[in-house]
Amino acid sequence: MKPITPAFPATRLRRLRRTEGLRAMVRENTLTPDDFIWPVFVRDGDGIEEPVASMPGVVRRSVDKVVEAAREAHALGIPAICLFPYTNPALKTEDCAEAWNPENLSNRATRAIKDAVPDLMVMTDVALDPYNITGHDGYMDEHGHIVNDQTVEALVKQTLSQARAGSDIIGPSDMMDSRIAAMRGALESEGFSNVAILSYAAKYASAFYGPFRDAVGASGAFKGDKKGYQMDPGNSDEAMRLIARDLSEGADMVMIKPGMPYLDICRRTKDMFGVPTFAYQVSGEYAMLAGAAERGWLDHDRVMLESLMAFKRAGCDGVLTYFAPAAARLLNG
Ligand code: PBG
Repeated sequence: MKPITPAFPATRLRRLRRTEGLRAMVRENTLTPDDFIWPVFVRDGDGIEEPVASMPGVVRRSVDKVVEAAREAHALGIPAICLFPYTNPALKTEDCAEAWNPENLSNRATRAIKDAVPDLMVMTDVALDPYNITGHDGYMDEHGHIVNDQTVEALVKQTLSQARAGSDIIGPSDMMDSRIAAMRGALESEGFSNVAILSYAAKYASAFYGPFRDAVGASGAFKGDKKGYQMDPGNSDEAMRLIARDLSEGADMVMIKPGMPYLDICRRTKDMFGVPTFAYQVSGEYAMLAGAAERGWLDHDRVMLESLMAFKRAGCDGVLTYFAPAAARLLNG
């Protein structure tokens, strides 16, 4: 009688896992420092690096220290830094005018970085929340509903002021409708045809943004939630519609946010559109990994690299991550 299964399988998949050399030879995805965009929190003052309690290892920096961080990023091979201002509460108003003040923190930091490290790309965030007394990303009517089109007008002013300061990449994180078309049109008509737009196209109403709102001081006044403009976590088809829409309006790159809980959206985006696709490993994702590592429950470096590799495997071209400098240092050996 012949055996039902052959004694020696022709395919032993374990064969290629035996040594580091074999594993390296057949590895499908790799991680390098140029996969990262580093989000950095900016505050007033001089010589200041102030820890963010809910994000172990992350600090708010004064502009001079942001410039130091930019030099470090460039030396590590990180291509871009993304600025998030911690705005003095006294500057927050109903009309959010600080958002397009040429001398606001974000614009001052952009100019300082572009002066000191011109080859490092600066990405800036477009949304009204750091400047809004309500803590929301847009204007609200008396019923607490977003006023979309008036908000878009304000976002266009903010976009232009960032482009004039030297921002290379505009990152609209506000989730208003038709903002990309308005921003692209305004950039073109002011001669900023080389400024790129990385649209936060599929941004979910997520509890993982908690530590960020502390870091930029947006939690104080903030009431309610952002479900009226950010996406419902139950949706996936809607993300594809948003991405198609933002691309048709002139976005160069798209982002999915948060990251780890939405890797299925990253994969779908890459498969369906084949465009430069980014994910944001947000503050809460950082906090859960860095916080557990701080307690000795997880191996910091290993979970960091494993979580970042997941984005590459899911089809992302890059990832915004607070781990950027630590991961780049490790990868550079
Ligand atoms: C706000 C904005 C948020 C983040 C980036 N831009 C927070 C929010 O939408 O409430 C979150 C980033 C993070 O959690 O790391 N426009």
